[in-house]
Parts: sequence; structure tokens; C-alpha cells
Amino acid sequence: MLSYIYEVGPINYFNLSEPERNAVLSSFVSALQQLSSAVVFHVRLDSMSVVVGNELYSVNYRRYFLESDQSLEGLLATMGLQEKYVRLMEEPVYNVVSSLPRYAVLDNGDLAKAYTITGVSSDLDVAFLAKDMGEGSVIDMTDEVRIRIEPLSRDESKGLIRLHADTLQAKLTLVEIAGGRDRELSQEALMAEEAAQSVLSGAQRLFRISCVLVLREKSLDALRKKADFFYDMIMGAVTELDSPKGIQHIMVSGRGPRHLRGANLFMPTDSVLAFFPFAGLDVIEHDGIFLGTNLQTKGPIIYDLYRKSNPHAIVVGKSGGGKSMLLKSWVSRMAITYPDLAFMAFDSVNQSEYGRGADGSYEHSFAGVTGAKVVRFNPSQPMGLDPLRFFGRRQAASLLAKMAGVGIDERSLRAELNEIAQSGSTSTTQDIFEAKMSEELRKRVNGNLKPLSFMFEGDPQQPYHRTIFVLDDLPNDEELRGSAVVLASALAMAALKSLPIPQKKILLIDEAWAFLSTDDRGRLYFSEAMDIVSEMARTGRHYNIALVLATQYGKDLMNGQGKTVLESCATKVLLHQDAAGQGGGSDLAQQIFGLSDQERAFIERADRGFGVLFTEQGRVPFYNKLTDMEYSYFTTKPEELGKPSAS
Ligand SMILES: Nc1ncnc2c1ncn2[C@@H]1O[C@H](COP(=O)(O)OP(=O)(O)O)[C@@H](O)[C@H]1O
Ligand SMILES: [Mg+2]
Repeated sequence: MLSYIYEVGPINYFNLSEPERNAVLSSFVSALQQLSSAVVFHVRLDSMSVVVGNELYSVNYRRYFLESDQSLEGLLATMGLQEKYVRLMEEPVYNVVSSLPRYAVLDNGDLAKAYTITGVSSDLDVAFLAKDMGEGSVIDMTDEVRIRIEPLSRDESKGLIRLHADTLQAKLTLVEIAGGRDRELSQEALMAEEAAQSVLSGAQRLFRISCVLVLREKSLDALRKKADFFYDMIMGAVTELDSPKGIQHIMVSGRGPRHLRGANLFMPTDSVLAFFPFAGLDVIEHDGIFLGTNLQTKGPIIYDLYRKSNPHAIVVGKSGGGKSMLLKSWVSRMAITYPDLAFMAFDSVNQSEYGRGADGSYEHSFAGVTGAKVVRFNPSQPMGLDPLRFFGRRQAASLLAKMAGVGIDERSLRAELNEIAQSGSTSTTQDIFEAKMSEELRKRVNGNLKPLSFMFEGDPQQPYHRTIFVLDDLPNDEELRGSAVVLASALAMAALKSLPIPQKKILLIDEAWAFLSTDDRGRLYFSEAMDIVSEMARTGRHYNIALVLATQYGKDLMNGQGKTVLESCATKVLLHQDAAGQGGGSDLAQQIFGLSDQERAFIERADRGFGVLFTEQGRVPFYNKLTDMEYSYFTTKPEELGKPSAS
């Protein structure tokens, strides 16, 4: 009885670069080499509902299951899938209610027909079942593909492989004795001999493989048509296929005597790669979020940030390329799909576009759609963000020291401020202003901290699970904005970290160039808050906090903290870059993202919203298709601002 069942996300083999493909295959080979009992891979069609803006779509997608009578955690780790699988108690199965000679009838009335591969040529392509043959792949035509891979014992392998090679050799000898020649046979005999040698030497193992493909349709007529089409398609790749009569109920359901569940093929390790099941061009993940149209398949991309080795994402693209639009649509879709999603967002620096919609209202904005609280840093209004009310004394003191312009190395000033903050007579920052202190500290407090008192005064703000920090009311003053960002990011971090770990969370920073830049124009506001970004990049995963960033310039990501951040993002999106653009343009993008010349040309031509998504499972060109609502709420095109929104 097979009782260990896992679901894994697909590896989009065909979307990987050459070195990535090789790495994936060699880890699959290692996994096969260490396999100790049979494993069954299932690739199964399913459908799910996806929310996009205010619309609901049903999307077909494939799910990938592994099944064995032993734990497969070691195997999954060898395949590089650690943290990318879930263990299940059961998987979807076919309920056959009656069996006709050539078909099985399922409980919802659908008809199913199962085929098994009984012969393959010796030069099958890797992942041939998933390979696009012009009108899709073999897998695309099926409802389920089931590949059983069973390692043979060493003794059994030796006997079998020797027998096979010897049989072919004998056939060949007969042909030759008769004075004939058979090039195909002699090629086959040669390969069999090579395989035999490598199995005998232990370099490869021998496996018993069975592959069952299930077609499913609503009517007999449709199933017949599909079967014809399917047969023509697959016979281009395999040499023999069978759909045995009378045992369809067993073949379809996969329940019944082993020898009736699919024909056996014997193959050495290298040949098993032909059956590598995790391939395809689709990026459609269970629980995922609509991210636009996959330009390869024309289908949707449904992507789950949280089922990667880390949940961080960075969007790089020239100004006007669609970065903010992508973040607003992506995160608002997440907020709708995951009702308990918490986020803290930093609005664009110079003009608010998250807290305010294109028509200027809250209702028709990102904030309105997601039900977020907008925190405006406005010098004419008390904000109620006194660090002494939100943090422990020590942490508050260190934050206030930062805002007062007391350097890390000015130990005595820090100690003095800390002591005042800890004192029994201090309960608000106002109390600090009134406390006795040294002349030097007084200078810093009066010069740097007092002008910020509007942030501390007023009724304390209630922490809110979705918050947008808006800075555009602040005068364009480095110190002031820097302090606002320091305070806001400290609050954001504390708020996110205080939530239960399993809850999905996002720290969103549009225009992160301001945090990342190392040049004179970029460093201004946020150099202090950069610490928070890199801390998040390093540790956010443990709190289920996704760092979601946008930046214009490739050069900010080349070294230092920018590089750390880039390397920490399992998900990357590249939007339009000019051929010779500021900050590196497409040249640098090509380097950073390892673009092919074709991809580079695509990025140079890309219109707003077009780009390439880079994931651990492969890369795919896409277009962020917006609903009318999303467009009208989130656009920042000057000619559309202030117009009433379509709702
Ligand atoms: N996916 C898209 N579809 C249609 N229009 C878009 C799309 N993305 C962006 N735009 C348009 O381009 C404008 C600029 O995009 P924006 O996201 O603000 O660019 P960035 O943040 O990269 O500077 C938007 O206000 C919107 O009008
Ligand atoms: Mg923007």
C-alpha cells in the first residue's frame, strides 16, 4: 500500500537556462540513484478559481503528486524541492462507477480511457511528455499521467540487462549471418551493450518503468476524437502504445493487480530522464495569485510567492515601465485572495499613489481596495507615533537617538538619552524634551528631534494590519524624510513581527532605489532604513514576511546591500529597460539576470506592463493584464488623474 503522498510545485524545465536545466537533471539523476523503492509521479489536471480585481475566473492547471510506501523527504531534498512540497493524507483519485470494454465511466458521468506505453525508441527527448509539439504537449491532452519508477535490485538488473544486450546481439548476428544489414538494430545493440556495461559497473541502475496516460471527456464522441488526436501525437514520440480492453477500470483508477496497471519498460538511469515529469511552460500554482498572461502559453500565470525558498520579490524596470502598477495589482489581488494578509507599504516618495486613487479618493485607491489604513506624515498634524508608546524603552531610545542625529559611536550621548528614556518620570517623548540633559544632547534634541514632535504628539495610533505610509506631505527635507522613514519602518517591522508566524505578511517598498542607491541622488532619504530592508531580506522568511520591492536601476543591485537584497529574492521581475539606459539599461540587466539576446531584445521593446518573470522554477515572459477596475484605480498617467473612476 502506497501511503506517503506529497504535492510539489512544478519545475518548468523548458523555461530554465541551459545550466539550470543541467542542474535539475543531475539532481533528478542523483535522486534516482538513491531511490530505494517504487515511486509514482502523478501529473493531474485540476481547476481552481482565481480572483483578479473584482472578477472571478476558473483556471485549469496541473498538479504534481509523488507517492511511495516510504518517506520521500530525502528524495525531494535531493531533487532540490525541500520547502516546496506539502505532505498530504490523500490525493485526488478516479472513482470508476462502471466499466465498458474500452472505457471507464466516472462518478460524474465523464468517460475515461487509459493508455500505457509499451515501447519507446532509444533516443527519446528529456521530458518528452511535456514537450510542446506545436499544438501543446502530450501531457496537455491528458487528464492524468502516472509514471511509476521502480529500482531493480542489483542482481535482477544484471541478469536483465545482460539478457537484453545478448538478445539484441543474437538478433543482429542472425541478420548478419543471412548476409543482411540492419543499421537500426545494430545501433540499438550497441546502445544496449553500453547500457549493460554501465549497469554492470554500477554507474547506472536499472528501473522498471510504467507510464499510464488517462484521457477524459464528457461524451463518447469527444473522447473518441481526442483519442485519435492523442494517438497521432504520441506515436511521433513513442513506438508502441496500448489501451487494453476489459481492464480499463483498473488502468484508469490505478487500483488492482500491479501487472494490470500498466506495461513495464526496463531502462537505465539516463533513459529515465525521458520521463522527467516536472516540465511544461505553465506557471500555475495552487493557492497562487494572478500575475498576468503567460506570453508563451497565452494562459494565466498564477504564482505563489510563499511557496518558494524565500518569499521576497523584486521588480526592476525603467521609470514608467509599470513597476508600481504591477505591485499595486499584485498585492491587492493577494489582499483579496488571502483575507488575513497583513502588509505595511511605503508609498511612492514624491506623489502618493497607494493611499490615493487616480481620482484622488480613498475608495478608488489601492488603500481602499485593500481596506488599508493610510498614515500620512504631515507636519501640521499630530500623528500619535511616539516610539515610547510603541516600543520597549531601550529600543525607543535607540530609535530616538537615530532621529536626533546621535551617531552609533557617540556612546556617552546615547547612554545619556537611554537613561532619560528609562527614567521613571519619562512616559512620552515630550517628557524627554522637558528633562534635564547635557548641553550637547540638548543641542541634538532641540535641533533634530523637536522639529519632529508632530510625529510623536496626539492620541496613539492603533496598530493596523494593513497600513500605508505616505511621505509626500513632508517638506522635501532629507532629515525629516529620513526620520519619518526610520520611524515608519521600525513600526512596520514591529507590527509585522508581532503577528502569528503562519499569517502571510508583506513589507512593500515601492521606489526602493531610494533605500538601495549608493550615489548622491539615491542615498538621501533612506540610508538608515536600508538596515531594515537587509534585515528583512535575511530573516523575513522565518516570519513569513515577504519583502516586495521595486527599483529602477540595475546598478543599485550590483554590490553591497543591493546585491544582498537581489540575491535574497527568489522571485524577480524585469520590466522595460532602454538599450543604453541610465543606471545600466539593458546591458546591465542582461548581466544581472543572465538574459539571452532574445530576452534582452524583448526587454528593450517591452511596452508598459510587459516583462520577464524569473522564478526558481524557470523564467517566463508575461504581460500584467489589468482589469478595468485595477487600471482606473491605479493609473498615474497625468491625463487620467482626477477623472472619475469606472467602478
Ligand atoms: N500593465 C499595464 N497595463 C496598462 N497600462 C499600464 C500597465 N502598467 C503600467 N501602465 C501605465 O503606465 C503608467 C506608468 O506605470 P507605473 O507602474 O507607474 O511605472 P513605474 O512605477 O515603473 O514608473 C501607469 O500609470 C499606467 O497608466
Ligand atoms: Mg512607480
